[in-house]
Amino acid sequence: MNPVGIGIVGCGPIAQAAHLPATVKAANATLIAVCDRSERLRTAAQSMHGASIAYADAADLFADTRVEAVIIAVADPFHVPLAIAALHAGKHVLVEKPLSDTLASAHELAAVHAQTDSILHIGNNKRYDMGIEYARDMAWGALGQRIAYRGWYCDSHLRYTATDNLQPSFVTADDTLRPVLDPKTDRRRYLLLTHGSHLVDTARYICGPIVRVQTQYRTVEGARCWYSAVTFADGTLGHLDLTVTIQGDHHEGFHLYSQHGSILAKTYLPWFFKSSDVEVFTSTDAQYHRPLGADGHSYRRQIEGFCAAIRGNQGVRAATIDDGVAALAVLTAMTRSAEANAAWVDVSTAAGLP
Ligand SMILES: NC(=O)c1ccc[n+]([C@@H]2O[C@H](COP(=O)([O-])OP(=O)(O)OC[C@H]3O[C@@H](n4cnc5c(N)ncnc54)[C@H](O)[C@@H]3O)[C@@H](O)[C@H]2O)c1
Repeated sequence: MNPVGIGIVGCGPIAQAAHLPATVKAANATLIAVCDRSERLRTAAQSMHGASIAYADAADLFADTRVEAVIIAVADPFHVPLAIAALHAGKHVLVEKPLSDTLASAHELAAVHAQTDSILHIGNNKRYDMGIEYARDMAWGALGQRIAYRGWYCDSHLRYTATDNLQPSFVTADDTLRPVLDPKTDRRRYLLLTHGSHLVDTARYICGPIVRVQTQYRTVEGARCWYSAVTFADGTLGHLDLTVTIQGDHHEGFHLYSQHGSILAKTYLPWFFKSSDVEVFTSTDAQYHRPLGADGHSYRRQIEGFCAAIRGNQGVRAATIDDGVAALAVLTAMTRSAEANAAWVDVSTAAGLP
């Protein structure tokens, strides 16, 4: 396949740890250009990963005709304006999760995208975890009607001990471009969006749309817990646990109970490049089935899926603009519910949709 020319906007931690090396390794991509306001970061990215050119200004990258598709790897409030500019320049877009820091701006991006023929994927890389892919196929196939789903994303108090060992040493600089109001200062909102976007997207990938939520919120000495009952559109009952941080190891996964079987999935920090451990029991043969997800590089597989979609492959199961908007709507509903003493909130109401 003719490789897709890629430009990466943002040469910060996620680009250095994931997108730059993953683009170079991807079978159907060529890294053409990098961009960062910081000269140190963009020149380091260019020389370490062999990009043809390094830009200071994203507009120059978007004007480069060799770049067919862009990866937007910048702080959350910058996602939508950069994605819109890239779409206006005729580029395909892979934008990091969460899609945006506000639901209103996510709708704005959706409206612009609807006027284009560009592919737009969200960086929910867990959809490219081979174990989770297998679980999804079983959940929508052999297992029959879904009954109940329980998902959890519990970040470890020792996360950075693990990631410091696993990730490369980052090139850092003082002249990076940051939002005037740093979204990370509002910890309650930031943590729900940044981690909850994975929890909710995986739940939606396995069970489909979420229509209502009821969220209890509790914080103790900096640990924050969002405990949500949810209902999926197909009637599946759900429970989603987001806790940041727990005193213990990273704890992420899900249970699914279905008509003809059940699934237990245990997901690792992505920096281990290890697919989830997934066990599926099928009542038809009374056996457990366990896939070997040998290729655990979800970030490289995500870029390969993005490029395959650009070349016309209809079978790619990435998070789309609709998934990104829907995940934000669910997270907004969770916030509303927690503020209203755990009242049930319809996701469509929270999203401002009819
Ligand atoms: N999918 C995942 O597993 C995962 C993991 C970590 C982070 N993320 C997401 O990745 C995104 C980026 O995270 P980060 O920690 O690398 O962010 P960061 O803010 O530390 O780095 C972003 C870089 O982009 C540059 N930049 C910002 N706007 C620019 C512009 N208009 N033009 C040129 N350069 C610009 C900055 O100078 C900075 O160097 C966030 O949305 C985060 O949620 C995803």
